[in-house]
Amino acid sequence: MRLGINIDHVATLRQARRGKYPDPVAAAALAELGGADQITLHVREDRRHVSDRDLEILRKTVNGTLNLEMAALPAMLDLALHHRPDTATMVPERREELTTEGGLDVGPHREEIKRITRGLRDAAIEVSLFIDPDLEQIKASHRVDAQAVELHTGRYCEARLGRDRNRELARLIEAAKAATKLGLRVAAGHGLDYWNVRPVAEIEEISELNIGYAIICRAVLSGMERAVRDMKELIG
Ligand code: PXP
Repeated sequence: MRLGINIDHVATLRQARRGKYPDPVAAAALAELGGADQITLHVREDRRHVSDRDLEILRKTVNGTLNLEMAALPAMLDLALHHRPDTATMVPERREELTTEGGLDVGPHREEIKRITRGLRDAAIEVSLFIDPDLEQIKASHRVDAQAVELHTGRYCEARLGRDRNRELARLIEAAKAATKLGLRVAAGHGLDYWNVRPVAEIEEISELNIGYAIICRAVLSGMERAVRDMKELIG
């Protein structure tokens, strides 16, 4: 199973002070030292966290694969063609949302998505679509010539009751099988954490997980003692 680390949340922290740190580029380097196979970042239209500068440097420094999450917009296609990530994952984007809230609704946007897919594929950038685990979305993804899908695990992660969680897990399993049958590479992500990840990681057809929030949050806490000790030492 490949692990992609979504570093947007490091950039969110940096933007809280509009400062230089924590630098998502440094976080990506450490994530790779820890074994990350991929660095994932979402350059939003409003550039609220990750910046063009981050993408530019990460393209030069990331050793594994670089996965750019982007809205299905011509300006984002231009950005991707300029920086050449290994994979571009198209995601829905609304300015007012806290984070990506649902999967792409591929059908109604198929013409734009197809056009952008063609542009990306012509530049040898793998195209993935972030979709809900839904058969119609999978078929539509195949129809627009995507090479991969990332299944939205949000509903599975949010389900509180065992039976709801099992139902959402079954949807993920079914979707992963259907996508594989159509020749699509299958990734998954959103909301995965140290408590809910295992059943998803056990789905045979899923070959990659993209995880951000839970890992960045754990890094803040697991680094706290050391950070305080360093400051105590400094101030004597
Ligand atoms: N995959 C996609 C497409 C996302 O938009 C996000 C969140 O930015 C993630 C994975 C990671 O989600 P989380 O931060 O909840 O782990």
